[in-house]
Amino acid sequence: MPTTKELATFFKNKGFIYPSSEIYGGLAGFYDYGHTGTKLKHNFENLWRKYFLSLDDNYFEIDTAQIMHENVFKASGHLENFMDPVAISESGHFERADHLIEKATGKRAEGLSIPEMKEIITKNNIKCPVSGTKIVDVKTLNLMFSVSLGANGSPGYLRPETAQSPYVNFRLQYELQRKKLPLGLALVGKAFRNEISPRNLTLRQREFTQAELQIFFNPAKVDEHPDFSSVKEYPLQVVLVADRESNMTVERTPQMLLNEGLPQFYVYHLVKIQQFYLDTLKISKDKFRLYQLDDKEKAFYNKYHFDIEIELSEHGFTEMGGLHYRTDHDLKGHQEVSKQTMVIHDEESNSKFIPHVLELSFGVDRNVYALLDLNYDNDQERGNAIMHLPPQLAPFFCAVFPLVKNKPDVVKKAKEVQALLKQSFPCYYDESGTVGRRYARADELGVRYCLTVDFDSLDDHSITIRDRETTKQERVPVSSLKERLSQLFIK
Ligand code: GAP
Repeated sequence: MPTTKELATFFKNKGFIYPSSEIYGGLAGFYDYGHTGTKLKHNFENLWRKYFLSLDDNYFEIDTAQIMHENVFKASGHLENFMDPVAISESGHFERADHLIEKATGKRAEGLSIPEMKEIITKNNIKCPVSGTKIVDVKTLNLMFSVSLGANGSPGYLRPETAQSPYVNFRLQYELQRKKLPLGLALVGKAFRNEISPRNLTLRQREFTQAELQIFFNPAKVDEHPDFSSVKEYPLQVVLVADRESNMTVERTPQMLLNEGLPQFYVYHLVKIQQFYLDTLKISKDKFRLYQLDDKEKAFYNKYHFDIEIELSEHGFTEMGGLHYRTDHDLKGHQEVSKQTMVIHDEESNSKFIPHVLELSFGVDRNVYALLDLNYDNDQERGNAIMHLPPQLAPFFCAVFPLVKNKPDVVKKAKEVQALLKQSFPCYYDESGTVGRRYARADELGVRYCLTVDFDSLDDHSITIRDRETTKQERVPVSSLKERLSQLFIK
């Protein structure tokens, strides 16, 4: 199992992810994606769009400003509530207090009050992890980045979640999309948080990408979903608050979760999320779980809250996203502060109400990290690492090699093959080093098929396809190459 340190070196060497501003020593909590990382990230985002936007014909994507009006965050409650607890040591070092406690005691500390944290720190004699000195205070810190705008420096904020953008867009989009519910507004974009202790590469950054879908719906319909019968037997991987003692993931059907008091509209989306991870991202079932948060742990705006978790090599089960039932918390807040009504007249039910919001929230960088971590395999037999990424996620699906680079006819043919394929598949050309070395490089980037043009190709117009997973080779005529690769891409 790779450590974060091992992964960090690998990610940098292969152009996936590395510290931002690195020639100046880097900046804590900021990372750049190189060309391979960017392709992987885009592939994840595009699969996410394709899957979640197709859940309903009335779901749409928007793209919005990242700096927002101060009143947005008065209305949402972020100015008042978006706080993290910080432990301050005698040496002046700042550390996330709940994480410090969790590390020292092995118990979850999310949601504890400041006096509770102070007590645990004193009782367990927890010291600063950097200087070893005493913790002298614990207080809260707002995580938002403020910016001053224009010459007069009027205040604005970098959004701490993409979610507020669809909320302030709701009224207009609802009118434009013919006043129909449920209405889904999706956004893939940056969010900014002044994290106290950014760490573990892209798992906790100060600038990161979220992919969030906000579903606005009629609250009277929370106990129904038209497609529920198609998922009602699906085995969900869940840890309910009641399972905490055993810390075991329990397989439960959606019906069992309805019996626990969760609404049908909510449970349906738990299924869709799990199916995305297992069927589209190909995450194995035992590495995935939906973790229910208790009243103290839930975000301040949520009525129901499950985290989406994946088990990482070094960090155990780690939050990748969440399914949040935010009720009318945000729209009501925006109505109060903006003085613009969020009450709609729903023609279907002939009733008036403020829509409720179900939020499907995903951290793109954490998911990309998880995909790299889970698919990384330092193969001792082959002597190189292999990225077992599914074809739809890998930065490149295939690579074309001439067997040798000093035979112009072979090189010409290989370049022709790559030109033919690159319109249809992410594909690169490589002629440098031995074929073995080129295979190794391709394995490390997750390239599923390496295509080699050899001397025989000049006569039989066929080439060799080598499978990353098995290293088995098959000979395919160039004329049917696109068709063959299309079959393999879908597999
Ligand atoms: N709109 C709801 C919301 O923002 P959240 O649980 O605070 O909820 C959603 O964040 C997801 O964003 C998290 O599950 C995580 O994947 C990602 N995320 C949050 N903070 C992050 C950070 N500092 N660095 C990287 N990803 C982060």
